[in-house]
Amino acid sequence: MCGIVGYLGEKNTKEILLSGLKELEYRGYDSAGIAVLQDDNFESYKAVGKLVNLEEKTKDFTTESFAVGIGHTRWATHGKPTELNAHPHLGESSYVVHNGIIENYAELKKQLQADGVTFLSQTDTEVIVHLFEKNLKDASSAFEAFEQTIQEIQGAYAILLVTKSEDKTIFFAKYGSPMLVGINAEGEKYFASSDTPLIGHCTDVNYFEDGDYGYVDAQSIALFDKEGRKKEPHFTKLSTNKLSAQKDGYRFFMEKEIYEQSNVITDTLLGRLCEEEVLFDELDTQLFDGIEEIKLCACGTSYHSALSASYMFERYSKIKTSVEIASEFRYRQPIMSKDTLFVVISQSGETADTLETLKMAKKAGLKTLVICNVDNSSMVRLADACILTRAGVEKGVASTKAFATQVTVFWMLSLYVAKLRDTLSQEELSRQIKLLREIPTSVKVEDAMHERIKRLSKRYLHGHGFFFIGRDLFFPLALEGALKLKEISYLHAEGYPSGEMKHGPIALADPELFTIALLPQHLLYEKSKSNVEELSARDSTICAISPLEFDKADDFIQTKKHNDYMLEFFEMMVVVQLLSLEISVRLGNDVDMPRNLAKSVTVE
Ligand code: F6R
Repeated sequence: MCGIVGYLGEKNTKEILLSGLKELEYRGYDSAGIAVLQDDNFESYKAVGKLVNLEEKTKDFTTESFAVGIGHTRWATHGKPTELNAHPHLGESSYVVHNGIIENYAELKKQLQADGVTFLSQTDTEVIVHLFEKNLKDASSAFEAFEQTIQEIQGAYAILLVTKSEDKTIFFAKYGSPMLVGINAEGEKYFASSDTPLIGHCTDVNYFEDGDYGYVDAQSIALFDKEGRKKEPHFTKLSTNKLSAQKDGYRFFMEKEIYEQSNVITDTLLGRLCEEEVLFDELDTQLFDGIEEIKLCACGTSYHSALSASYMFERYSKIKTSVEIASEFRYRQPIMSKDTLFVVISQSGETADTLETLKMAKKAGLKTLVICNVDNSSMVRLADACILTRAGVEKGVASTKAFATQVTVFWMLSLYVAKLRDTLSQEELSRQIKLLREIPTSVKVEDAMHERIKRLSKRYLHGHGFFFIGRDLFFPLALEGALKLKEISYLHAEGYPSGEMKHGPIALADPELFTIALLPQHLLYEKSKSNVEELSARDSTICAISPLEFDKADDFIQTKKHNDYMLEFFEMMVVVQLLSLEISVRLGNDVDMPRNLAKSVTVE
């Protein structure tokens, strides 16, 4: 959700800022902008839409000696995605970029307007730069003014500010939104909201903690904590391996990421399976001592993987499990008891609502675990224990391989807990472990299957709605299929438990209602089949996905026969992902950057 970059050094500042923004563009792409300060002279450019528009606008601009610069790619929260609302925001002689939300901006704006300040944008961010300039008038230094500004704003933020009054310095502050600074032997300083833009440029990085603020210049980094005490940055080595995903011949990142699932799941399993048990070296078995219940909390796709986990934990580990949507959990004054293991699930590790629930659980003294794809993310740093999903960088806004690896981790974890609690026979445990090894094969995309889905997709470009239906574990998969479709096709889709259709939604059934029915052979097949027949009898258009022939459907996608419903789950997951992809392609949508969305939602 929005991306921030900053650079201080001698190289071509524009190029560094733009290439950093390119790495972060998937986080938000309503508009983008940069501001570069060199020899007391500001150059600033903004453009609405994707980064290419900004690249075009800045094509004749370059810097060759020392400069400081900041950049931003935006996902609109306050104010429409217009050029005026794009960052950086200008005061009289300073620019600011910001991720997050300034909660008391309306009040601050009113005071500043009463003092005669004119605002150009509708954003909350603009108050920061005006407040800073107001404070600068009475302060003994730009840093003092910045410090005072940080004390006056409330909310979540990662902020970079550059000003003519200290033209060789970048001021920074972080609270609730991720940001890090990177250094190298050449004395350059780089800022970004995640580490990818820094790879290849920096050797060491410091991840800021909530409440950190300060400034950098060519010589040093001055860092302070939220009480205003000076502290030393804690630098760690940055990987030199450019993880940045390239499309490698695929039409879209999403397509590439669907095809990659077999490989990344192999990575997820690596070193974690032996014949008789699942191993998580990163977990202390004591984590489960005294635990009587598991509570899972997440948003969006990660919430769907958590739902699927609840079936596995109760079925295999025989442990009471509940699942919560993070944005709901936060405000409903939940009862939290210490015999509950609190598990958050997040691709990014930065989702604001999920992060907040993790803080709540920690405060209530619960043991906490995060299932996450991004090492060093805020959640990973905060939770007591962490399992990394190893999906690699996921660039498509519609999550695919992150979901696949999360479900894989949950399947393994439910067996790990089953072993600790002795709830599965050794024979069953070994059988399940064998099945786990088969996931990479079950998710391999076969050309014939992809071609069939491509061909079928042309029949599903209209209609008054889609219902993805499934029972048991295939209900969360139905939810996930529907979410994928609506995100990238903009068609209305719902996921529903098959058995629940007759309690209301069946009233919608007609030929223009498309039902995507998940019919695994090994889990409640007869029951699910009857539910689909009820819809078929009411003339709903049905696309059935099953290994078993089904003659009541208008369209049929035949999956392979497997020995267990878990492998059917994984293969059907690929089918619904590809179906959404192909429908979106036919509708001419931007598959990787669908409208109104952003990759990492760091505002609540
Ligand atoms: C959907 C999607 C979102 C995310 C959600 C949580 O394709 O990507 O629904 O799953 O915003 O994000 P994370 O997992 O990063 O916490």
